[in-house]
Amino acid sequence: MQHLLSIEELSAKEIQKLLDSAAHLKLQRGRDGNQLAGQTWALIFTKSSTRTRVSFEVGIRELGGFPLFLSGNDIQLGRGEPIKDTARVLGRMVHGTIIRTFAQQDVVDFAQYSGIPTINALSDDEHPCQILADLLTIQEKLGGWEGKKIAFIGDGFSNMAISWMWAAKHLSFEFAIASPESCQPPADFLANLNAPNVTVTADPAVAAHQAYVINTDVWLSMGQEGQKEKEREFAGFQVNSALLAGAATGHIVLHCLPAYRGKEISEEVLELHAGTIFQQAENRLHAQKAVLVALAKR
Ligand code: CP
Ligand code: NVA
Repeated sequence: MQHLLSIEELSAKEIQKLLDSAAHLKLQRGRDGNQLAGQTWALIFTKSSTRTRVSFEVGIRELGGFPLFLSGNDIQLGRGEPIKDTARVLGRMVHGTIIRTFAQQDVVDFAQYSGIPTINALSDDEHPCQILADLLTIQEKLGGWEGKKIAFIGDGFSNMAISWMWAAKHLSFEFAIASPESCQPPADFLANLNAPNVTVTADPAVAAHQAYVINTDVWLSMGQEGQKEKEREFAGFQVNSALLAGAATGHIVLHCLPAYRGKEISEEVLELHAGTIFQQAENRLHAQKAVLVALAKR
């Protein structure tokens, strides 16, 4: 593994290896090795972040490295310097880069032109670090995903939904998306995915029925905040106690956060499942340390 650009291009074996490493690093926390000793890792963020930024900065430090946070607005990238030039400069100065941005192609180009390990910390197309933390949480809470239906209620063609669909393809669990028709993954995407275990419905109750994991995310992703018409499409798509009544006994609720209570999730459900949801947030740290260790060149 040279980079982490997407869940799409990971194999089932690579995912499991990262999860095993994350579980080990979680147990070992405080007794970490020095896998990033002497290394500087840049974080280029052109979108807001709490969890991703903090977990990467802390994780890099815990592994003996130095994080260098670069807001997209403060560096010349924000004034139009091409990503390929930014990449060629950083590639000569730092040991790895973590990027949060809009276009997936920018992440791909950065990896190509920098020649250093590159991690996608969220693009419009994928959020691979989040999915690794989510899978780790499912392992911890449910012992794994084998034979367990996972549901996603919300924007069916968001970065989170897309990364989940690729995870379902690789790991073969039943994955049901409930999304308004206008937000469902398009036919050409589903044809390319070619995963009969991934189903799409406009009825949240159908997706949640007998699901062991009910997953949701914001209706409007970063960059879409003004799209009030899109938001209106989601009436009836809230994860609340009525929806969960049809889920499997012993189900868990996941939310990558930040959450908008009263929109995609009710206050009651978020607080009832806060133990799992904040364990999921903490797992960002452990999962990403596993990614850093896997990518660090020694
Ligand atoms: N879930 C997640 O990526 O959170 P942040 O946007 O706070 O990093
Ligand atoms: N889909 C959300 C995820 C936030 C972590 C977004 O892109 O804003």
